[in-house]
Amino acid sequence: MRQLNVAIIGCGTVGGGVWQALRRNQDLLEKRAGIRLRVSCIVVKDPDKKRFVRLPKRLVGSDWKVAVDDPKTDLVVELVGGVATARKVVEKALGLGKPVVTANKALLAAHGDSLFEKAKNRQTGLYFEASVAGGIPIVKVLREGLLANRFPRIYGILNGTCNYILSRMQEEGEDFSSILAEAQLNGYAESDASLDVNGLDALHKTAILASLAHGFWVSPGDIHVEGIRHVTNLDIGFADRLGYRIKLLSSILSRKQDRDVTEIQATVCPTLVPYNHGLADIDGVFNAINVHGDIVGETLYCGQGAGAEATASAVLSDIAAAALDSLKLADGTAEPTAPCSGCQWQPFTALTQNGKVIAWEDVVSKFYLRLTVTDAPGTMAQIANVLAENTIGISSIIQPEGHESSSVPLILMIHDASVRAMNQALKRIRNLSVVKAAPVMIRVDHFQ
Ligand code: HSE
Repeated sequence: MRQLNVAIIGCGTVGGGVWQALRRNQDLLEKRAGIRLRVSCIVVKDPDKKRFVRLPKRLVGSDWKVAVDDPKTDLVVELVGGVATARKVVEKALGLGKPVVTANKALLAAHGDSLFEKAKNRQTGLYFEASVAGGIPIVKVLREGLLANRFPRIYGILNGTCNYILSRMQEEGEDFSSILAEAQLNGYAESDASLDVNGLDALHKTAILASLAHGFWVSPGDIHVEGIRHVTNLDIGFADRLGYRIKLLSSILSRKQDRDVTEIQATVCPTLVPYNHGLADIDGVFNAINVHGDIVGETLYCGQGAGAEATASAVLSDIAAAALDSLKLADGTAEPTAPCSGCQWQPFTALTQNGKVIAWEDVVSKFYLRLTVTDAPGTMAQIANVLAENTIGISSIIQPEGHESSSVPLILMIHDASVRAMNQALKRIRNLSVVKAAPVMIRVDHFQ
């Protein structure tokens, strides 16, 4: 049996999980992949740091360059996190023609186009299953299982921290800050949770999925993103009364596809999801992705999107895929640019066409609108008038009973309207004397 020497660069939660899982299932993996896997070194920043796994001293190193350069290293597993050092590690390895496995969504979202280009030029592979949705093999789903499909609609709950916070807010009626503080205390949320709660982690994953599904490079800068900090219990409660749950939802919708141009809508924002849709039931730290393929129809994938073991499962599947590819290449049974076991980017660059993400202002959607207004005759008429002048239709209204002249919430469900029209209307509504606080606008999706 041939042997593949693997250098693991970075041994935090994910690296430790990979080491543990490999120890547990190495025999099985080797039998299935038909290749012996040998971890030849594990590079860490601080070899003396206490970790949740015990690493054999003889394998631990502190210089990634030495490990990557080592002629005995066949495969580099980048688990450093962050972008700066990780980029150097991946570039160096690919430059040497060595395949790389990474879980780093921020790196791929920022520099994926040049890294995949480099891998292609050096006829090697860059494997990234663990970068999106942890243990859910969504990259292989799009890349292999659903290869024959176009993807008119993909929806995802891609950040476990946000889903956990929103689920707890729904179940317990606690506010965002206290749930976040408790989640940080219990280790469910990072001490700096801003990447998660501001929506950036989901944004990176959305950019990768959109690129994968539509065959052109989608930059995170082109995707509208909102986090969940502004979601209140009041909104969760009203959404509930209307038959919805609020989720941080990634949407990747195909808008136009012809010979010359592919146009998509890609957004990451809190969204009202109807109770009868499968994504409404995804609670806690779980991730889920709803993929609609033009041949297969609707499919739903659910699982743990983070954590040492779930992510290790994805990293190990990529290690096995890289091993199989290297065997096929060595045996001359595959072209260097062939999909092999399906983890390389090449077939997608081959598909590459002119692609465009439509601007947020041009997005047309249903909306939930919460206004804080004076409970006085004529209030509703003034608001309805502004909406009508912007050709915006109302589908339903809730106003809890208040006291004349006091401030009350007014909830309006809006028929399909563009964000541009909504913004224009809200600018005027905000200035009405009967409106007492900044309006809250949340997207609503009926998944049709
Ligand atoms: N912090 C992410 C989450 C997992 O909460 O889902 C890593 O991307």
